[in-house]
Amino acid sequence: MIGIVEYFEQITGFKAIKQQKELLLALTNDEIKKLIVTAGRGFSKSLCTSIAILWYSEKAIQKDKPIKLMIVSPQDTMFQYVEKYFGKSEALMKHRLKRGVYTEVPIEGYQLLRYPETDSKEVLVDVFTKPATNKVRGNRANILFLDETADINEAIIKSAMGCLTGKLNRLVLISTCHKSGYFTTRAMNPKKYDYTVLQFNAEKCPWLKQTVSRAKVELTKAEYAMEVLGRAPTKEERGTYPHKNIQKCIVDDVVSEGGMIEAGLDFAYSPCKTVLYLTERNGIRRKDIFHKSWSKKPIETIAPEIAEILEKHNAVIVKADAHPREYKGHVEKHTKTPIFYIEFNMTKEAMIGQFKRRLLQKQIEIQQKSVDTIKQLRYHRRNLRTGDDIHDALILSCYEPKIPFNVKPRPCIYINGKPIT
Ligand SMILES: Nc1ncnc2c1ncn2[C@@H]1O[C@H](COP(=O)(O)OP(=O)(O)O)[C@@H](O)[C@H]1O
Ligand SMILES: [Mg+2]
Repeated sequence: MIGIVEYFEQITGFKAIKQQKELLLALTNDEIKKLIVTAGRGFSKSLCTSIAILWYSEKAIQKDKPIKLMIVSPQDTMFQYVEKYFGKSEALMKHRLKRGVYTEVPIEGYQLLRYPETDSKEVLVDVFTKPATNKVRGNRANILFLDETADINEAIIKSAMGCLTGKLNRLVLISTCHKSGYFTTRAMNPKKYDYTVLQFNAEKCPWLKQTVSRAKVELTKAEYAMEVLGRAPTKEERGTYPHKNIQKCIVDDVVSEGGMIEAGLDFAYSPCKTVLYLTERNGIRRKDIFHKSWSKKPIETIAPEIAEILEKHNAVIVKADAHPREYKGHVEKHTKTPIFYIEFNMTKEAMIGQFKRRLLQKQIEIQQKSVDTIKQLRYHRRNLRTGDDIHDALILSCYEPKIPFNVKPRPCIYINGKPIT
């Protein structure tokens, strides 16, 4: 049997790059019993695997040794490659079991006959696909290939593994690390789970040049790691808040329930802005009420306006960043709303943790029209230097310290519908 790399090049007509050679050799290395392949999208995981399947089939014919290969995939892209290239091999064409009127390779798999020149229907090679459902159960295979494994539910992966038999007994899991779960956990901890892991970076593929340069602009760092570099994002690359949790908290319009207004105030001059954020507190829940930013304005100039907003909304408390120190004491000159200064950098982790839970438990309503807030929440990650000023003011506004600030609702007397305090 010719080598897998040569076989790949003959069948596909592509010149294999170094990383593909490495992948192809691992895919056909019978000594590797538990293999994980993680690579960026488009690297050719599915293509190389399908060629490895054809190679195994042809080798079985040459050695006259039966083999059963099982493919489990949530999509059928992998088998599409098998179908596409099957006809390129004379041996495969000669041995294939023709079913009824169909001459092509049926999408659920193919069988190769041991004695194609006789009437014997003895099957030597059985390659079959199963969708990633409970149907995987009860099959028997010598090698199991799972494509897009990150999309396959853990229970199904485990049932599929139960199908392995014989001495060969190989398990090959293939995917991008685009989701946490069974696959990604093992791809990240190969030693612990006794897997051989191969990771490939799609930046190395000449055929993906355009895709990669587009991805550089369009994707977040975390997405780029998963989709291009072929690995799970690090903690730093991952966004602070899961997008789906943010999404759950966005509402078309916020309707006041008459709760107390609390403010967050984050000071900056440039390039960040000073941001005032007002939220309404109703028990443990919050509502996004109002926010405003000021850029390149000295505190003396904006303090009266900040105070006016606080008065207008009858804010009961302001939680302000204690830095920079010289910003302290200005707003107080214009309002009776108590201002508490917080050592933001020291409490930030706790505040973020609290806000994360708030999003997870849907304890905040964010207005759809607060576009800049939503954007900063989505892009937020640890150690961001700019672009988190609105986020900071918002989490200050929502912050509830273990020992509550000593504030009482301000007595409010209305004259002609206007509050007098
Ligand atoms: N050596 C190569 N040279 C040029 N193009 C290649 C080469 N190897 C793969 N390709 C292209 O890359 C594609 C890989 O797609 P696919 O196997 O579906 O990627 P993945 O499963 O990793 O997302 C193939 O369809 C083919 O067009
Ligand atoms: Mg694929």
